[in-house]
Amino acid sequence: MDRIRIRGGNRLNGTIAISGAKNAALPLMAASLLTEDTLKLENVPHLADISTMAALLAHHGVKIGLEGDAPNGGHRGRVMSFNAQTITDTEAPYDLVRKMRASVLVLGPLVARIGEARVSMPGGCAIGNRPIDLHLKGLEALGAEIELAEGYIAARAPKGGLKGGHIVFPFASVGATENLLMAACLADGETVISNAAREPEITDLAHCLMAMGADISGVGTDTLTVRGQKTLHGATHPIIPDRIETATYVMAVGIAGGEVELTNTRVDFLKSALEKLTESGLKITPTVKGMKVSRGQHRLKGVDVMTEPFPGFPTDLQAQMMALMSTANGASMITETIFENRFMHVPELSRMGANITVHGASAMVRGVKSLTGAQVMATDLRASVSLVLAGLAAEGETVLHRVYHLDRGYERLEEKLAACGADIERLKG
Ligand code: UD1
Repeated sequence: MDRIRIRGGNRLNGTIAISGAKNAALPLMAASLLTEDTLKLENVPHLADISTMAALLAHHGVKIGLEGDAPNGGHRGRVMSFNAQTITDTEAPYDLVRKMRASVLVLGPLVARIGEARVSMPGGCAIGNRPIDLHLKGLEALGAEIELAEGYIAARAPKGGLKGGHIVFPFASVGATENLLMAACLADGETVISNAAREPEITDLAHCLMAMGADISGVGTDTLTVRGQKTLHGATHPIIPDRIETATYVMAVGIAGGEVELTNTRVDFLKSALEKLTESGLKITPTVKGMKVSRGQHRLKGVDVMTEPFPGFPTDLQAQMMALMSTANGASMITETIFENRFMHVPELSRMGANITVHGASAMVRGVKSLTGAQVMATDLRASVSLVLAGLAAEGETVLHRVYHLDRGYERLEEKLAACGADIERLKG
């Protein structure tokens, strides 16, 4: 298994091109199941999760084309095309769903277009018990019949297909909103989704669905109204930049110091995180292509953070923020409100010398002057990158094990950081 070795202490200087958003790409790929025509996606990141979703779609019978890098200096990412004219199998098997929870996003599109789907239940995962009850209740509100047996969810649309309905989520769920938004596009009549999640990746999905002929209003708000169509058609859609990757590199500059321009990205969907990072002492200036981030010799200052659904501070940045705050001047209270058990990076950061105490859903981080390199273990995607950030600032050598977690969501991370002066390399095997 690959490892990543980092020798800490180098400041970062240069340019990092941000990839397309993984969490936008996955539902967009699933949306290809809604039409017989070809859906072409631009700016697709090269990641393990994308390969998993592609394997699942191929299993359903989707024909997939890869056109390589698009223009614009090779930074527009890959272009992939998906043609789901013939669905040969409506089952999402255990092996693929177990690898990646987002596999459950094929459920809504398959039931809406084909009338049935059988999807393995995702079960618990490293960051807590993540049920999919909201996805299933939403489909039932559109008339689907759901049966749970042998570890699988079998969903069947009524005769004549799904019917529009009113879905009221008790709390915002990104995946459930996406699944139901896709399903509603082919349901008969109007669907209203209340208390919908508002993440930029959902807005991106809505824009793509509209380009495919869907009629959606309320995009970007917590109430989505969808007037179902008989069919959708093909489209070409550029995927938005990855806001989590963007902010991770902002924090890399925060912990290592230096000045880096992040290109092919946007500041507008990172407002709350960038505000916190500015408050802690990072200089962030918007540029034509994205933003410039710098920190001089001064230490950052501890700030408190609470994760919340968009537009609040993203849970997917909590681990990285904790690494950053572990070397800040003063204390920082970090509260996780979205997922239970999302502090698995704490013991690993502590092994590098961080001073962190967890009380329930909050972690008190008392900043230390310096961290020390250690052998550390990745436990999930964002936890693993937080250890890379810590390694950039630590004295000595850090070796990160179980790098496959990182490869699920960060494209060429070690190359991007090394190009800015970090001493980081992948150790193969
Ligand atoms: C998505 C993101 C993930 C991010 C998360 C929250 C993708 C592929 N993944 O995950 O990176 O951390 O949003 O921003 O886009 N819940 C239920 N029942 C449900 C669905 C969710 O109880 O049916 C709970 C979850 O356990 C969690 C909370 O709701 O506590 C939010 O989860 P959700 O927004 O659905 O996250 P995902 O879509 O799984």
